[in-house]
Amino acid sequence: MSDLDRLSPVEQVMARHRRWRWILVLIVVAVLAYWLVAVNQYVVAYNRPLDHFTRGSIGSETANGLPTLVFKALPVMYADRMGPGGWRHFGLLYEEPGDGAGNDLPLGFSRRVVTGVERVWLNCSVCHIGTYRLPGETGRHLVYGAPSNNLRLYELIRFFVDVGRDPGFTGDALVAAIDSDQVGGNLNFIERFVYRNIVFPRVQRALLALGDQLAFTERQQDWGPGRVDTFNPYKAIQFNFPMGPEHISGAALDGASDYPSIWMQRPREGMNLHWDGNNSSVAERNLSAALGAGVTPVTVDRAAIRRVEGWMWELPAPVFPKSDTIDAAKASRGAALYDDYCAGCHGLKAGGAYDYSRARHPGLGEVVPLPRIGTDPGRWASYTPDFAGAQNLLYAGYPWRFSHFHKTDGYANQPLDGIWARSPYLHNGSVPTLRDLLEPAANRPAIWFRGSDVLDLDRVGYRSDPNAPQAFRYDTGRPGNSNKGHEGRAYGTALPASDKDALVEYMKTL
Ligand code: HEC
Ligand code: HEC
Repeated sequence: MSDLDRLSPVEQVMARHRRWRWILVLIVVAVLAYWLVAVNQYVVAYNRPLDHFTRGSIGSETANGLPTLVFKALPVMYADRMGPGGWRHFGLLYEEPGDGAGNDLPLGFSRRVVTGVERVWLNCSVCHIGTYRLPGETGRHLVYGAPSNNLRLYELIRFFVDVGRDPGFTGDALVAAIDSDQVGGNLNFIERFVYRNIVFPRVQRALLALGDQLAFTERQQDWGPGRVDTFNPYKAIQFNFPMGPEHISGAALDGASDYPSIWMQRPREGMNLHWDGNNSSVAERNLSAALGAGVTPVTVDRAAIRRVEGWMWELPAPVFPKSDTIDAAKASRGAALYDDYCAGCHGLKAGGAYDYSRARHPGLGEVVPLPRIGTDPGRWASYTPDFAGAQNLLYAGYPWRFSHFHKTDGYANQPLDGIWARSPYLHNGSVPTLRDLLEPAANRPAIWFRGSDVLDLDRVGYRSDPNAPQAFRYDTGRPGNSNKGHEGRAYGTALPASDKDALVEYMKTL
């Protein structure tokens, strides 16, 4: 080796430095790439608050989401169970032309890219969009912020559990469905490996775990469309409460509740709401609802929820669809009766605006003890003091930890704004129409059918229609389904029929 080929000591040092510089650059690039792909999350941002409500992510995908391609493959794999409508089988709604952002997922499902994989899961709107049809109409109207009347969450959960346990649910079957023409996943060799050997086992494990956590739902009534057991699943999933028959039985097991409306939250601040009045803070009600949608204290997207909050804050209650058909004289007779009998507990509409004043309506946002209101005890009993304590510890260490949850002794008096769009009535959705609610329980329908979204414009509420597609037979004799209570002189059920008709006419205007 000649001397010329040797590097001088200075050159050797420089070469070493160059090497180190390159290594450093490579490390930085690798860390950045790792962060961009595996750590950073990506969400779609929507300009319109309404699109954010229907489409935007609140952070539920991180812990509970399904990869988008798996979500799209399931209706192909389980076409026998779901039918050609796919997820519509569970009452999920799809946008129709003109509805908004334009999306291939059902309303109430959002996307987020987590660890490099796009996942989908629930947001607030899956439970808080209603539909209705006028008699004879074929197309449905969406009512944003109204209770979902379509969502069959019980069946949806049972479906996921069954998939996890199905011996036919395999990595190969999943990959074949993703590659099918309907899904058009077009996986390459590496992706196919990843879906078969990494994604599939994780999804299957998660569904099996869900089945174990929610085993108690096998002992429950099917909640049917438009209802969810608010707190029992939450006890099991978020808090690992023991849910075996020795721990929970009787009234507390069947706490199925109707979805509520979420418009005009500003005047509801400070009222004891949720059906049993267990929380007086709107922000806490929102956060606890987000847990129901699958976020966790770690994955919650606070900013996204605050944006929904801002949108709901003064969202107007919807106007009765055939307001020109309201009989003004009859409605004004009803207004006087309503003022006498109902306004003290529920507030009223006067001069064109709903009056939410608790000074003028001392019962509003307060709780009527169970023996007095007499409605089904299930939802009330399912919410226990133990559980309230656990909830108030949940976000310990975060500035937004819960502090307002408490056990109450009955059900809450709520504002009745937009009440025409909130049928069926009472917390468990046991009474189909407003007119039925004004009858003593013995005269209310004992067995009727949910599933139709055609409005009965006279009695006000969805029609009970045994021939509606997937009609759900609601038997008021089953646990959690009682249609008793809210009856007697104070509740208007002893009035003459013509007064009841007038009350209903007035309530169309709320
Ligand atoms: C899985 C269905 C579901 C999802 C998802 C959901 N909610 Fe709800 N929400 C409910 C039910 C059921 C209640 C009534 C709870 C009860 O009292 O039993 C409720 C109650 C509420 C209330 C209180 C209404 C009142 O007047 O008492 C607000 C406000 C609310 N939700 C907002 C939200 C927001 C914001 C989100 C998203 C972060 C959300 N919800 C997601 C089902 C849901
Ligand atoms: C003493 C207070 C009180 C009075 C008086 C009262 N209500 Fe109620 N109302 C309640 C409570 C509490 C509930 C919730 C019960 C439940 O869901 O189990 C309720 C529920 C309702 C609902 C169902 C709300 C929903 O979202 O499903 C309607 C409608 C209603 N009341 C109408 C009336 C009318 C009309 C009158 C007068 C004729 C009246 N109420 C009188 C306390 C009252």
